[in-house]
Amino acid sequence: MAKKRILSGMRPTGKLHLGHYVGALENWIKLQNEYESFHLVADYHVLTTNLNTDEIYNNTLEMVMDWLAVGINPETTPMFRQSQIKEHAELFLIFSMLVTKARLERNPTLKDQIRDLNIENVIYGHLGYPVLQSADILLYKGEKVPVGEDQVPHVEITREIARKFNNQYGLVFPEPEPLLTKFSRLPGLDGGSKMSKSLNNTILISETPEDVQKKLRKAVTDPQKIRRNDPGHPEVCTIFTYHKRFNPEEVPEIEKSCRSGELGCVDCKLKCTAKINEFLDPIREKRSVYENDKNKVLEILLDGERKASEVAKETMSEVHEKMKLG
Ligand code: TRP
Repeated sequence: MAKKRILSGMRPTGKLHLGHYVGALENWIKLQNEYESFHLVADYHVLTTNLNTDEIYNNTLEMVMDWLAVGINPETTPMFRQSQIKEHAELFLIFSMLVTKARLERNPTLKDQIRDLNIENVIYGHLGYPVLQSADILLYKGEKVPVGEDQVPHVEITREIARKFNNQYGLVFPEPEPLLTKFSRLPGLDGGSKMSKSLNNTILISETPEDVQKKLRKAVTDPQKIRRNDPGHPEVCTIFTYHKRFNPEEVPEIEKSCRSGELGCVDCKLKCTAKINEFLDPIREKRSVYENDKNKVLEILLDGERKASEVAKETMSEVHEKMKLG
């Protein structure tokens, strides 16, 4: 039987951080052999909140280098830019007829962005963000969509659009499901609930070992643990969450000695720094190979775009046939 397909993507906004790794990339890597995977650089989606395109190319390379460094296999897994496959725009147009304005206005991810970015007047394309995302997913008939928690509402809209199309014109599309990782949200260094570039509270995948140490040194911990021997509350501490993900073997011991006051934050952070650096060492090494040969990264994209384009063309000919267009 043919393998089921995965489609996922990210907007190219620069270097990725551990929140991206833990929230999504980890699943991409784990699942790339079990499923036929496609990964897209959502370069048109960037325009919904930033019309300046000067950085898109460079940000694309940085992001794809992170994908490759963490272990996405370019031999088996096409990686491609949305803007280079014209069928995304065409399917987006068709899908925009299958969803109401009211439905898109209810999208909680849009509401969060409007609030966080202080947007006064929402542009038409921003409202349509999930419609373009639906086209991304369904063009490849993605059945599973490994993403972070904040993207689940978009996958729900994708399911609704697929259902509407299939009912109206005949069966073409699967109804995709989100796949969440266990740690679908990693807290930020500021103690906030989410690691995010705009909040400036991240540890990058490409961070140097020294910068990992510096950033962790300044990270917010349990506010009630002021002196070294004060008893701590690991359940409210960001560093403890990092231990859970990057240092699981030592978690019981750390939990105990933090609560008793034996373990101070400085030492606890040093342990955590060591573990994160141990995790990042091979990733940094792999990334440096691509950093020294960026042409290779472009070739990987061009190759992925050839493969993606074949699938996209097939799907669109089915769509045309069902819609009796052409
Ligand atoms: N909206 C996603 C994000 O911000 C990026 C994205 C675009 C995506 N198209 C997609 C994710 C298709 C999954 C599937 O991260």
